[in-house]
Amino acid sequence: MTSPPPDPYPDSPTESATDLGVARDRPPRGTVLEVVGLRRAYGSVRAVDEVSFTLAEGGSLGIVGESGSGKTTTARIVVGLEHADSGQVRVHAQDRAARGAGRGREQRLRRAREIQMVFQDPFLSLDPRTSVGAVLRDTLRLHFPGTDHARRTAELLDQVGLGTREAAALPRQLSGGQRQRVAIARALAVRPAVLVLDEAVAALDVSVQAQILNLLADLREQTGTAYLFITHDLGVVRCVTDDVIVMRHGRVVESGSTASVLTDPQHPYTRLLLDSVPRPGWDPRRIAEARRAL
Ligand SMILES: Nc1ncnc2c1ncn2[C@@H]1O[C@H](COP(=O)(O)OP(=O)(O)OP(=O)(O)O)[C@@H](O)[C@H]1O
Ligand SMILES: [Mg+2]
Repeated sequence: MTSPPPDPYPDSPTESATDLGVARDRPPRGTVLEVVGLRRAYGSVRAVDEVSFTLAEGGSLGIVGESGSGKTTTARIVVGLEHADSGQVRVHAQDRAARGAGRGREQRLRRAREIQMVFQDPFLSLDPRTSVGAVLRDTLRLHFPGTDHARRTAELLDQVGLGTREAAALPRQLSGGQRQRVAIARALAVRPAVLVLDEAVAALDVSVQAQILNLLADLREQTGTAYLFITHDLGVVRCVTDDVIVMRHGRVVESGSTASVLTDPQHPYTRLLLDSVPRPGWDPRRIAEARRAL
């Protein structure tokens, strides 16, 4: 029998899952991502304003909010595509900015292995001249030189439900859903601790959307990768997240378990978002009035 791994935080509470909005010196056990007091302004626009949250290892946290509320800016700062004016992004309690202070190749690759991102439009992030198989092999070669890339490429394709025909195809020869599967496989190739998905299913028709959401749920279980799931679709949030934060004008206005936020919203803005989802008897004029009143 093997003994259990040592507890890295022996005196921390054991029930910690996602502990939202609380900055602390030491993260609760099992925290993979900690975002503390992020701010980013573009001129007079406060795109991200004092945003804090934590994401448990293998957990799934949704970020919802209407257009322009700061979701993508937050995601881009977390991944490292955008800088913050202030605040910290920590992975396994290490500050990403401090880690990346040296811009060496190894440091960049290590940072990339911590957090990967899947965008709304995979077409823009895939090289049109590179076949799907080659995309995966190139990624593996870069991060894991000297390993069996053919075997791992086949495994990744299998994990996202693609076969040898798709492996030989160029991105333009695939459907939108297949392209998104490729983007997910490429992100998972580096075995990231966190996968950031920004409106990753928004451009897909509903049946393909359901397939990709199922795939993502399965992959989370298989790989233990944690998700930061950005969407304006509350139905999607309900399906794939454990916890959720609600953003408005760059700030977090509400946070908690997805079930409680969606069934018993405390903030008027969250209630408005929920009321904005079309359903029988739905009155868009009343929603517009409520929005003006808020
Ligand atoms: N590069 C930029 N330059 C200037 N302003 C920006 C830039 N990026 C974002 N903004 C502004 O920051 C605010 C937040 O934008 P962001 O893209 O984060 O919103 P979002 O919640 O992702 O919206 P959507 O749901 O439409 O994708 C908006 O007012 C936007 O106009
Ligand atoms: Mg966005």
